[in-house]
Amino acid sequence: MPVITFIEFDGTEHQVDGEQGLSLMETAMKHDIPGIDADCGGSAVCGTCHCFIEAAGELPEIEPQEEAMLGLRPDRADNSRLSCQLRISDDMADMTVRLPEFQM
Ligand code: FES
Repeated sequence: MPVITFIEFDGTEHQVDGEQGLSLMETAMKHDIPGIDADCGGSAVCGTCHCFIEAAGELPEIEPQEEAMLGLRPDRADNSRLSCQLRISDDMADMTVRLPEFQM
């Protein structure tokens, strides 16, 4: 399983083991990592689980609904993703997930 390193906006790091089938958002919630609100519970309709993926292997394509929500983020970057839309699997590489200054 991949090791996920979450980095809060202030630089605080949290390293956790990924679990097959959990999303990055669910992983952050399970480990009480601050910086992800996930107001919609993972339905890709709130955008409050935005994150920046800094190091990872191949990731699933961005689906249209995720793209629509990311488009509302003023801080969107090339590596922006909704953490609720990325499910952890055995064949994923270790990754670093930076959290934004705030969710909106
Ligand atoms: S939890 Fe709402 S879009 Fe991800």
